[in-house]
Amino acid sequence: MNRLAVIGDPINHSLSPLMHNAALKDKFFSEIYEYVSYWVPADKLENFVNRLDEVGITGFNVTLPHKTSIINLLSYVDDSVSIISAVNTVIKRNSELIGFNTDIQGFIDSLNENNVKFKNKNILILGGGGAARAIVCGLLKQGSNIEIFNRTFSKAQVIKDQFSKLGEINVQNTLRTDDIDIIINTTSVGLHRNDIPINPDLIVPEHTIIDIIYNPLETSLLLEAKRKHCVYLGGLDMLVNQGALAFKLFTGVNPNKQVMKDTLLNYFQNNKT
Ligand code: ATR
Repeated sequence: MNRLAVIGDPINHSLSPLMHNAALKDKFFSEIYEYVSYWVPADKLENFVNRLDEVGITGFNVTLPHKTSIINLLSYVDDSVSIISAVNTVIKRNSELIGFNTDIQGFIDSLNENNVKFKNKNILILGGGGAARAIVCGLLKQGSNIEIFNRTFSKAQVIKDQFSKLGEINVQNTLRTDDIDIIINTTSVGLHRNDIPINPDLIVPEHTIIDIIYNPLETSLLLEAKRKHCVYLGGLDMLVNQGALAFKLFTGVNPNKQVMKDTLLNYFQNNKT
């Protein structure tokens, strides 16, 4: 049995085991692979990596707080990691550990699947954390023009300084949405049902609204977008696509993404808070 895993701290909330095991079962891989979660605090990361063979792990996903610190423990990283310095997928090939980032491509795939056009568009990113960095990097490489607004201005400025060589990027002092085509929420505001990361008056029907939060499936931001008849997209497809790309790296086979998505939708249906 090959063991696949997701590691992080905290890890209880992770939906990766549910999604990956459904995809493994769908491909009749359940006898060969199982996907489990491991709680790995920061001071135990190296120990975990040293024990992969003992535990039978051939590949794993990495979530907070290890996405950057894991890099020093790997043999090498794929190009998908280089600028962003964040790994979310590791595979073991012979005795080497190789790091990948499927978050960025997963996000781009979810936009393409939903027919959201982003080339040469003006995109406002709300937030200045790790998710904002990954999305800014991915979209700049695709030719989007980026504006960032973050509660802590200096963090947005750091992102600008890091990525301005990739394309057009500006930091907003005061939140403005005129001339903006797409607004993307990368902050954690919306995880609690009634919180919204932007004054609703700044949203007009011409905006496409994207929230990377997937729980709740419909955040207050998305409900506002729906009310205004905007095109809108939540974080579930991004979760599925980053997982599907990781699944291919783990097994060599493309999973059935609809099975992964339906499994998650079913979970949310049965676990309404
Ligand atoms: P991640 O790695 O998932 O992006 P993070 O690095 O903790 O998570 O980033 C969370 C983002 O949400 C940050 O940009 C944070 O703003 P600050 O940089 O000012 O901390 C933003 N955020 C969190 N709570 C917020 C709130 N109540 N209002 C506005 N922004 C908030």
